[in-house]
Amino acid sequence: MASTETREIRVLDSADALAEAAAATVVQAACEAVAAGGRFTVALAGGATPRDSYARLAAPPHAGRMPWDRTFVFFGDDRGVPPDHPESNYRMAHETLLAKVPVPAAQVFRIRAEADDPEAAAAEYARTIADVFGIRRGEQPRFDLVLLGVGIDGHTASLFPGSPALKEVFRAVAAVHVAAAIIPQRFTLTFPVLNAAARVVFLVSGPEKAKIVRAALGPQGTSVPAGMVRPMDGRLTWLLDRDAAALLPVADPA
Ligand code: 6PG
Repeated sequence: MASTETREIRVLDSADALAEAAAATVVQAACEAVAAGGRFTVALAGGATPRDSYARLAAPPHAGRMPWDRTFVFFGDDRGVPPDHPESNYRMAHETLLAKVPVPAAQVFRIRAEADDPEAAAAEYARTIADVFGIRRGEQPRFDLVLLGVGIDGHTASLFPGSPALKEVFRAVAAVHVAAAIIPQRFTLTFPVLNAAARVVFLVSGPEKAKIVRAALGPQGTSVPAGMVRPMDGRLTWLLDRDAAALLPVADPA
């Protein structure tokens, strides 16, 4: 299949404007997916940046425009903690968004990140994804939308520089150990899944991200995990605020 990846970079004036643009983008992707195929499958990003976007999505006007009854929610990654732990990405999404909107609980698929056997929990999540997407072994799920952030070291989801998981070409979900992370045990969707998505949107805010944004979007972008996200047949959008975009080359005036 010829790659028909399209990449757009949108620079928003502020973190608030970024959050607003992100919420509007989720609504647009959801409505398009439901119109085209009857449901919307999304993998949520963790960390702190998406909080404001999720809060806006949970409130008017965006919440009322979302097809919640047709929405299926997954997680791009999570930390190896219970769902009520302060470091849990599930907890963050639940308190900012999922507890406030009428998405059916049976359509929210949490990684069982507290499991004693991380490999089994990763395999279980992959089976859950396969069941919901109705795919067979060797096929990858095509999410309508994957939301991602990027760390200052270039990691995205829980795909960290130097991790063996960067080389995963078959499994959809990996249990990874990140020695330098606050919670070393992590779970992540892998590149085969991220790069099979119909649409991937990065949400990046703050001056501390400017260097890694320049690296990920530059000619050596694939040297960092975030720059390795290149949907084979999908739309890639980087939503940046001005601070995060500060080191990007200025586009030649049209
Ligand atoms: C996580 C996230 C991770 C996050 C980046 C950026 O579990 O931490 O999935 O990939 O997106 O670390 O985090 P901030 O938005 O907090 O800067």
